[in-house]
Amino acid sequence: MRVVTSPQEMRSLVGEHRARGEAVGLVPTMGFFHAGHISLMRAAREENDCVVVSLFVNPAQFGPGEDLRDYPRDLARDVKMAGGVGVDYIFHPGVEDMYPRPYLSYVEVEGITEGLCGAARPGHFRGVATVVAKLFHIIPAHRAYFGLKDAQQVRVIQKMVEDLNFDVEIVVCPTVREEDGLAMSSRNIYLGEEERKAATSLYRSLQLAEQLVRGGERSAGAVTAAMRGLLEGEPLVRPEYVEVVDWQELRPVERLEGRILVALAARVGRARLIDNILLDVP
Ligand code: PAF
Repeated sequence: MRVVTSPQEMRSLVGEHRARGEAVGLVPTMGFFHAGHISLMRAAREENDCVVVSLFVNPAQFGPGEDLRDYPRDLARDVKMAGGVGVDYIFHPGVEDMYPRPYLSYVEVEGITEGLCGAARPGHFRGVATVVAKLFHIIPAHRAYFGLKDAQQVRVIQKMVEDLNFDVEIVVCPTVREEDGLAMSSRNIYLGEEERKAATSLYRSLQLAEQLVRGGERSAGAVTAAMRGLLEGEPLVRPEYVEVVDWQELRPVERLEGRILVALAARVGRARLIDNILLDVP
């Protein structure tokens, strides 16, 4: 496996693979790999001849006061883990490679970026869309892999690809969870022991939502009230939002039908955690 830092070199290497008729898979990441990242790499490995993992902690998607400086990083460990699943290249550019100064060009996906995480993190999805668009240019992959844990991010990227005619298939992979249900996240490392236990309430509240819907509940208000009730039983958990939205537009719904996303964000200690489930309601 090779670690490449230069965008020009990365693009020409991928060009060589494509010229040989090989299928290229890209897994965009910010590093500090866990089983969720590994599942994306495995999926990419199974479906492509050449697998590139990008590893870049993207300053453009962090707001003021967020954890850009503290975001966990361990390149040596990441290289070892990616090598273990047969990744061909890690693309690990510096900030100056991705954002030469002055940097003036951004990608803005409107509408679906305003609610959910977008409400508390203005500019976050502009940063995500911009860096992913740049990665798609530097690494012209046939397929790119994203986890459903970041459901709003998935919709933003799908919409950007559709609207801006990117020639890449977006492959969405299921959320990978710890045994007790906590969604895998690089930010779980911020949790102390008691916070880690309390954090299981996020997935428990989503399971409760699913149970209610399967039992015939069709009022979004009733579902989110029950979820909030469960979360409020954990003093260490401070919910930021608990919402039910439609999958296409990510707009809040009152009545549950069709494909819906039940999503939440909460602060637990200094970690901001998100989780969701996607349900098809008859
Ligand atoms: O999901 C992430 O890790 C990041 O948002 C991504 C897609 C790599 C863009 O920086």
